[in-house]
Amino acid sequence: MKSRYKWGILAPGKMAAKFTGGLKLLENAELYAAGSRDAARAEKFAHDNGFEKFYGSYEELAGDPDVDIVYIASPHSHHHEQTLLCLKNRKAVICEKAFALNSRQVEEMVAEADRNNLFLMEALWPPFQPYHKKAKELVRSGIAGRIVHLQTYFSFIPPYDPNDRKFNPSLGGGSLLDIGIYPVIDVLTFMGVPDDIEAVADFAETGAEVSLSAIFKYNDGRMATIYSSYRTNNGIGCNILCEKGNITASRGRDMNQRVFLDLHGQNREEFVFSPPAMGYHWEAEEVMRCLDEERNESRIVPLSFSLNLIRTLDRIRKAAGISFPNE
Ligand SMILES: NC(=O)c1ccc[n+]([C@@H]2O[C@H](COP(=O)([O-])OP(=O)(O)OC[C@H]3O[C@@H](n4cnc5c(N)ncnc54)[C@H](OP(=O)(O)O)[C@@H]3O)[C@@H](O)[C@H]2O)c1
Repeated sequence: MKSRYKWGILAPGKMAAKFTGGLKLLENAELYAAGSRDAARAEKFAHDNGFEKFYGSYEELAGDPDVDIVYIASPHSHHHEQTLLCLKNRKAVICEKAFALNSRQVEEMVAEADRNNLFLMEALWPPFQPYHKKAKELVRSGIAGRIVHLQTYFSFIPPYDPNDRKFNPSLGGGSLLDIGIYPVIDVLTFMGVPDDIEAVADFAETGAEVSLSAIFKYNDGRMATIYSSYRTNNGIGCNILCEKGNITASRGRDMNQRVFLDLHGQNREEFVFSPPAMGYHWEAEEVMRCLDEERNESRIVPLSFSLNLIRTLDRIRKAAGISFPNE
């Protein structure tokens, strides 16, 4: 068990800056090194955020023997290659969602971590958030009865830029792996892996999918509808419709998280959570807790969940006709 872990940031872009904000809240996290494809970008990020070292290549970052943990925050298309690079250099790895482009890549990443006896986790936001944990607790308690239908969504309107990773199919662009992954996390968390999936999508001029609707069906009659889009702006949330009432869970525009339990008007209860920050520090804290306890896998985001997630995303893509050129 170490008193402090030296963190390395691989691909210091927008998300890396937010995650670093979380690391700054943790006493046992040392802001050690940033690695970019471009030395000047790495230097600026290191300087702006108080990292001790910077590297102009990912290979140099991964090869630094003092780095304990690497956080990977590149576009999805590069997660597979960069995770393998870090694992081969014997680093613990937390890699942003989507973990990779497809299940074949994630299976290889998991196998490499296993072979090297190293820690690996997908950086998933919902499992650490109070609203998600409360909704899960209510579902598990059975207070609203059995789930009949789950409606879950995430949409926002980013500026259209064909070069941005969100609209570039060769970077894994499209709403599904970027934000549609959250509704899929909801369904897998609250209902498990579906038996059948139907899906349709709409595409931008670049070929990237920009709106997606999917229906998940279970052999016992349960269903879920999933929506993600860059063309509307309704944020993130879900309605869990159950036999004895409904559970609504969302994060509002004010960033407060709310869970509303309504037992068909008989009993109503609202739970409001106001986390002090985005909560990325909870993910980093979990990585260091696992390393303290000499565990290679998180119990909060186990690799089996990440495998179910990417396999479900593959099934949605197949049903909706979404493909990436570099697969
Ligand atoms: N958990 C969350 O809440 C959350 C929120 C937003 C995003 N994310 C995830 O974080 C990851 C990064 O998203 P972002 O918005 O931060 O991306 P970004 O700012 O567009 O890019 C991040 C970094 O990736 C590298 N990069 C950019 N374009 C590249 C290209 N064409 N080829 C190779 N590398 C490229 C660059 O690093 P270099 O300086 O090394 O070139 C860049 O600084 C995505 O997987 C996304 O899904 C997660």
